[in-house]
Amino acid sequence: MPTILAIESSCDETSAAICKDGKILSNVIASQKIHEEYGGVVPELASRAHMQNIVPVVDVAIKNAGCKLEDIDAIAFTQAPGLIGALLVGGQFAKSMSLALDKPLIAVHHMQAHVIANLIEDPRPKFPFLCLTVSGGHTQIVLCESPLKMKVIGQTIDDAAGEAFDKTAKILGLPYPGGPLIDKHARDGNANAYTFTEPQIKGLDFSFSGLKTSILYFINNAGRSNVFKEELVATSEERKNFIDNNLADICASVQNRIVSILLNKLAKAAKETGINQICIAGGVSANSGLRNSILKMGEQKNWEVYIPKFEYCTDNAAMIATTGYYKYLAGDFADLSATPTARAEW
Ligand code: KG4
Ligand code: ZN
Repeated sequence: MPTILAIESSCDETSAAICKDGKILSNVIASQKIHEEYGGVVPELASRAHMQNIVPVVDVAIKNAGCKLEDIDAIAFTQAPGLIGALLVGGQFAKSMSLALDKPLIAVHHMQAHVIANLIEDPRPKFPFLCLTVSGGHTQIVLCESPLKMKVIGQTIDDAAGEAFDKTAKILGLPYPGGPLIDKHARDGNANAYTFTEPQIKGLDFSFSGLKTSILYFINNAGRSNVFKEELVATSEERKNFIDNNLADICASVQNRIVSILLNKLAKAAKETGINQICIAGGVSANSGLRNSILKMGEQKNWEVYIPKFEYCTDNAAMIATTGYYKYLAGDFADLSATPTARAEW
């Protein structure tokens, strides 16, 4: 049974994990604080931070797992999608280790791995299941028939759900990443205080850019309207007062709409496919509104809902290692020509 070293470097977390016989022995994540002062991830700074972090992160992952270099049977790495410079650091490191240890290389699709995060620990969903993957870069509904057989059946046509949270936070003057702060303020607010319309998008796809624009107008008009009207545009002092006096209600109302957009499409997917095993993945699955609502909807609709540990929801190498484990069992190896790519269909 294989021991797999996995490396994840697609965005702003440098992570390494060891998985033995399908069980995670270590999962080390170094987050990059440097981006906070820029209000978003700066790709070049991410690549440099990965270069600084990768050796110590891999070293600690091996030590925490209580294993040695010679115990490693294969090296898995995130091949795509992600920031190209960031992916290249992890990819080159993985290839070098594969060459040095003379062990096979396994190329992993990051979005597939987010879904597989649900298979890391018990309770695990039964196949087939649906996974709502919601992160800063992606919003997808995935139908998963087996660990390596999955299909995207719905996705965003513009912004991701995490972007909708982060951009709203930016409009409200909150620091990056704003998703967790919106969640925090929303807990003290009235989710029905303000109404933002639900976009009418066909099928199982999502859209968040219209919501973002209406929030922008809503704040520019100091809550008087969420469409543009020249005579309603507020002064910067009015806007500031409006935000200061109503922050909790604004956050709760926006969060309520983002969650309902996500869950209405998920319910449609469950109905159309007849599947009642429902999972979530990605950083936005930390959102308390989403968690509470999916559990409530699950009770109403007789779903079995699975939510991985938060450590496995955000970017992490444990999900890459577990995907690598299934690929190892399937004999699906890559060679040294496997090149990272920023985008990849699957
Ligand atoms: O999966 P992730 O860690 O990174 C990628 O984007 O791949 O997701 C990060 C996203 C950010 O947009 C962040 O604001 C959002 O997840 N997020 C949240 C919460 N925690 C993280 N959004 C809403 N509520 C939260 N509690
Ligand atoms: Zn991710």
